[in-house]
Amino acid sequence: MDVDTGIDDALALVYLLSRPEVTIQAITCTAGNVGARQVALNNLALLELCGRQGIEVAVGAEVPLQIPLVTTEETHGPQGIGHAELPLPQQAISPRHAVDVWVEEVRARPGEITGLITGPLTNFALALRREPELPRLLKGLVIMGGCFNYQGNTTPTAEWNVSVDPHAAKEVFAAYRGLPEEQLPLVCALETTERIEMRPAHLRALAEAAGAEDPELVLPDQPEGLRSGSSNPLVACLSDAIRFYMEFHRLYDQGYVAHMHDAFAAAAAAGRTSVTARLATVDVETDSPLLIGTTVADYRGLWGLPPNARIVTGNDPDQCFEELISSVGALAAG
Ligand code: BDR
Ligand code: CA
Repeated sequence: MDVDTGIDDALALVYLLSRPEVTIQAITCTAGNVGARQVALNNLALLELCGRQGIEVAVGAEVPLQIPLVTTEETHGPQGIGHAELPLPQQAISPRHAVDVWVEEVRARPGEITGLITGPLTNFALALRREPELPRLLKGLVIMGGCFNYQGNTTPTAEWNVSVDPHAAKEVFAAYRGLPEEQLPLVCALETTERIEMRPAHLRALAEAAGAEDPELVLPDQPEGLRSGSSNPLVACLSDAIRFYMEFHRLYDQGYVAHMHDAFAAAAAAGRTSVTARLATVDVETDSPLLIGTTVADYRGLWGLPPNARIVTGNDPDQCFEELISSVGALAAG
């Protein structure tokens, strides 16, 4: 997993921890929602909260390839996990650089590892420069990023993960040109991830699935800043985090909801939520001040270039929430 944790990255991580058939080989951290070191601390604290110390967490790129770093504490909270406050982790950050982790782990297990990227693509672009065979060595790749013929969430035409490091995204898509269809990245872009709209009722269902004694206390409509108050520490953490994201979405008139972009990508990577996808040739604008970070999909072969992505065009939000809530609820219940 390569992440910029991040509220929805946090749910993605906890969800994958909850799946018995998934082994998380390593977590690599990139600067995005918050700085890369804070991302690592968040991941380590979440692992400890879930009783899963021992998974390697490595820091990677602290800045994008060519442009200055922009972070978004107003979206994800001062530390990246909303209102949740996690203790400083006991486990140390890995001495390996994230790019070394990508290259060494994938080379050591050719054809076995599925990469999941839910932050800017900086680490993976750097890893590709070092090992151009990564696309062939990976079992698969799932990316949360981009938006195609759909409004952006960072500029009118650009999605956050691509917008933070458009040059990295461009390099990644270029590296996949001409590869067999089954090796092309599955791209979970805004037009489908924004359908994964978490509501207060979903948080209450999570508390119930966790068997929390006080699910009625997990009321996200309470005034901003209040703790969610569940007796279950994992449910309380996720509710405090996600409630912040709901408050943010409400500011932008999207309602009291939170888009679980990264958790959807995680469920797709685990093969646990249904998706339909369409082959396309994707490129990223890196020059125009008006359109920088815009992802463009050529579905018709108009550029005369081979496809380099499978863009998710259909998903099932209800089934996805059922999966997330039942799996994470079971983990929280212990
Ligand atoms: C993406 O941007 C981040 O803020 C989220 O964590 C997600 O990965 C959605 O555009
Ligand atoms: Ca993210």
